[in-house]
Amino acid sequence: MADLNPAQQSERDAALKALFARLDEAFKATIVAINRLTPTIIEVVVKAPMAAEKFHPGQFYRVQNYEAFAPVVEGTVLAAEGLALTGAEVDKEKGTISLIALEMGSSSRLCSTWKVGDPLVIMGVTGTPTDIPTGKTVLLLGGGLGNAVLFSIGKALRAAGNKVIYFAGYKYAQDRFKVEDVEAAADIIIWSVDKGEGVTAITPTRPQDKTFVGNILECMLAYAKGELGEQPVSLADVDHLIVIGSDRMMAAVKSARFDVLKPYLNKAHHAIGSINSPMQCMMKGICAQCLCKHVDAETGKEYFVYSCYDQDQDLDKVDFPHLNARLRQNTVQEKLSNLWLDYLLEKQQS
Ligand code: FES
Repeated sequence: MADLNPAQQSERDAALKALFARLDEAFKATIVAINRLTPTIIEVVVKAPMAAEKFHPGQFYRVQNYEAFAPVVEGTVLAAEGLALTGAEVDKEKGTISLIALEMGSSSRLCSTWKVGDPLVIMGVTGTPTDIPTGKTVLLLGGGLGNAVLFSIGKALRAAGNKVIYFAGYKYAQDRFKVEDVEAAADIIIWSVDKGEGVTAITPTRPQDKTFVGNILECMLAYAKGELGEQPVSLADVDHLIVIGSDRMMAAVKSARFDVLKPYLNKAHHAIGSINSPMQCMMKGICAQCLCKHVDAETGKEYFVYSCYDQDQDLDKVDFPHLNARLRQNTVQEKLSNLWLDYLLEKQQS
């Protein structure tokens, strides 16, 4: 290649600089806001234009902070492992992604120590877009943080001309977050909170919505039997279910579909569970940390699915005892890290 003269060199340098600036703008992820939603749920809003542009409802990102920006307390670097977080709200025009985390493990608890302006590692988008049918009646069932995944799915379902009935379950009324987003995701919502001492029922803000105290299955039964008043959307019309919550909740829904709910959900032959297996690389088949066991009830055949490749799995085939055992495999280490983090955060504050 012929040598460049000084004018050509500076032209090339300027072009490269502009290219790197464009790449930085598209691919770098920077925290723009951190909002506390409930005492145990936090929202981290990130500007990451390319990651936002590629998002479709149901998908998620692998999120962690940079070790170089993490505080060091007593020799421990407060760097998070990769967290699987959904894009609860994605604004493609502004290039922002709202990530919502339940502060339960030591990595998710670190989110509250992050700072606006810090860069973040956002890998993805990963997972598979949730299948959005048209002209159907879809039942969404969300437990706790699982509701964050259903915002974008419910909105997309409604935009595609589906009718959406949404059972949103929480432990306590104060655990609700982003109520307007839940409302935008459904034609009718049945809010429920678990029974317990001093529990107060949620007061719906829209006239068509209902409220219930008890577990989510009891809530569905009460609605189906007409105990919560008129039913603008009947369970008998439901074509399809999408369920996301704890593995225990999803296991209970799986068995109730063939038992107590069977007489009411007679048209719904297909249910999807959005499965949150333990995850590591989230690169769709590299580390196999996310393998989830399925069993075909008719043939008894067992097989395994990468949950980071396809988080939306046939609810009836998921082996929930196996998933529960996988989720509990690191319990001892998780408890120890949480205790160590308690100690470090106390030190940091003192
Ligand atoms: S998390 Fe590594 S292959 Fe799914």
